Amino acid sequence: MSSRLEETFYQQDFVSVNQIQDRETVDELFESAYEMEERVAARDVGDVLAGHAIPIIFYQPSTRTALSFLYAAKRLGAYSEAMHDMTFSSAAKGESLPDSIRAIQNVTGASAIVLRHPDDASSQEAANYAEVPIINAGSGKREHPTQALLDLLTIHAKKQTFDNLKVALVGDLLYGRTVKSLALLLSRIGHNNQFYFASAPQLRFPEDFLATLPNGTRFTEMDNIHDALDADVLYMTRTQKEWFEQEGRLDEYEELKAKLVLTNDMAEMMPQDAIIMHPLPRQEELRYGVDKNPRAAYFDQMKYGLYLRMAILKAILVPGS
Ligand code: CP
Repeated sequence: MSSRLEETFYQQDFVSVNQIQDRETVDELFESAYEMEERVAARDVGDVLAGHAIPIIFYQPSTRTALSFLYAAKRLGAYSEAMHDMTFSSAAKGESLPDSIRAIQNVTGASAIVLRHPDDASSQEAANYAEVPIINAGSGKREHPTQALLDLLTIHAKKQTFDNLKVALVGDLLYGRTVKSLALLLSRIGHNNQFYFASAPQLRFPEDFLATLPNGTRFTEMDNIHDALDADVLYMTRTQKEWFEQEGRLDEYEELKAKLVLTNDMAEMMPQDAIIMHPLPRQEELRYGVDKNPRAAYFDQMKYGLYLRMAILKAILVPGS
């Protein structure tokens, strides 16, 4: 009998966090990720992806996501390379995404393609043309599904639950994709959580996004961090200069970039067992003084990215995972 993990992921595209419909899938995926953690520590991961090719194609900059997918694939025995600088790809000569995806699939003999792209619809568009699974590594301002899963795994690892929590999502909620994917995943898969959405008024979640949260999701919008310091999970994000630049709003960026800032003095006001997360990179919103605070979880968060992405690649490519 197939598992929920297999039904959800095996040979499927993973373009949206909305594809995860039930808790059983998350439980099975996390069990696999924790096993990966143990195997990485023991330097005994095996080679379940031997013979598979996994190109990693990034049209936007990345440190964490690109490298963790690359090392997840390689550690499990796949051939994998990351193509980061698309100014040297044929996209610079006007090649469309559908043509590029078919080229990448065919020249590499890919089993799956990991894609980051600035357009909201890019992963779904690529999936419409590819004959192999497309894994969304960040699309536009809307989706970063593997980040949401690694964020949830971090919460689970640190708090032993993702129910009955106060979760504050802070910063650039307008342009940020990590906060949107995490809010969607946690509001559907978790139970009895309460959200604080803390941002400058100009950087709130768009109304059409809020309308996609499940009925009954409990949230309070606020324009400061102080009212969120009783949270169990405080998830900081940077103000995303690149989108302000693209939309000709750079003067507003300068005004907004340091509106909501977390200092260590503020972190000390939080519950002793609270955790502070950030998808990174950071700018001024998360002071370096917080790094040594025992609540800081953002460096461990990256480690969970490796284990989670190993588990996702295995679930997509290996039957019976
Ligand atoms: N969290 C995240 O997406 O970071 P990168 O942009 O470095 O991949």
